[in-house]
Amino acid sequence: MLSWPNVLDGIQSALAPRGPHADYVATLSWIMFRAGALIFFLVVVLAALATFYPHRTRPWLGGRSAIVIGGIAFPVVTLTALLVYGLVGARALVTFDPPALRIEVIGESWWWRVHYLNASGSADLVAANEIRIPVGVPVEFVLKSADVIHSFWVPSLAGKLDMIPGHVNSYRFAAERAGIYRGQCAEFCGAQHAKMAFFVVAMARQEFDAWYGEQARPAAEPAVALQQQGRALFLSNGCGACHTVRGTPADGIIGPDLTHVGGRRSIGAGIFPNNVGTLAGWISSAQHLKPGNLMPSFGNLRGDELRAIAAYLESLK
Ligand code: CUA
Repeated sequence: MLSWPNVLDGIQSALAPRGPHADYVATLSWIMFRAGALIFFLVVVLAALATFYPHRTRPWLGGRSAIVIGGIAFPVVTLTALLVYGLVGARALVTFDPPALRIEVIGESWWWRVHYLNASGSADLVAANEIRIPVGVPVEFVLKSADVIHSFWVPSLAGKLDMIPGHVNSYRFAAERAGIYRGQCAEFCGAQHAKMAFFVVAMARQEFDAWYGEQARPAAEPAVALQQQGRALFLSNGCGACHTVRGTPADGIIGPDLTHVGGRRSIGAGIFPNNVGTLAGWISSAQHLKPGNLMPSFGNLRGDELRAIAAYLESLK
């Protein structure tokens, strides 16, 4: 596995496309950038000619044919060509075949609720802030919002698509190779907008199916005394009012489902690596680390209690 990723190594870059959707976006961007640079250069040359050339050549630049060719014909031809290229390329990304997988992602302030949908469109599996997909097949993303406008964006895999309250947007994209890609909310949605990230993990189909089967199971039983103590504290401190841990009385739906939280790469919606230390820190100081989010800081818990709860959560692979 890779170490805790940073955004510079290409896991979150529209300039390093890793799927057909992002490829198309990158190609179109480069065409526009190069053609734009060329046209800018041409305009600078013409401006220089108009300014510095001898008087007798200047009337040509202000003449009728220069205006018709440069001011009307050229923009019409180039912009039409760009439009046609854009539409044809975008059309190639649209398919009406049944998708290999449908995943509903709901933008919340400031995290991502993830539902893996079954054939009838209801949630088969509930997760948060991390999306696993099989490599090489187009996955349909059904995007919604629970509160304000968010925008779903995995730069290495696809363009942005807004998540709008009361409206459903959807698109499909694929990852062409296994890997970990970082996504980021791309629409200002409040104070912690910048701390609204997630990871997409693309895995070989077999590996994905095995993972999916594991996720469908209820939470693992605590194996050691510390974890048992952690589960008791988790339940007695009311964590279950907001969080679900399947197989325990915790069935809250306000916050992320924690049934398999220990298997995720990050906590706090992509902002900290997931380990006992960061989990304990998050429980005691969520309001300090991400002010305004719905998770209260449990500053009343002692260090040993925090460690026990964190050890329990970390064990929920
Ligand atoms: Cu959600 Cu910005």
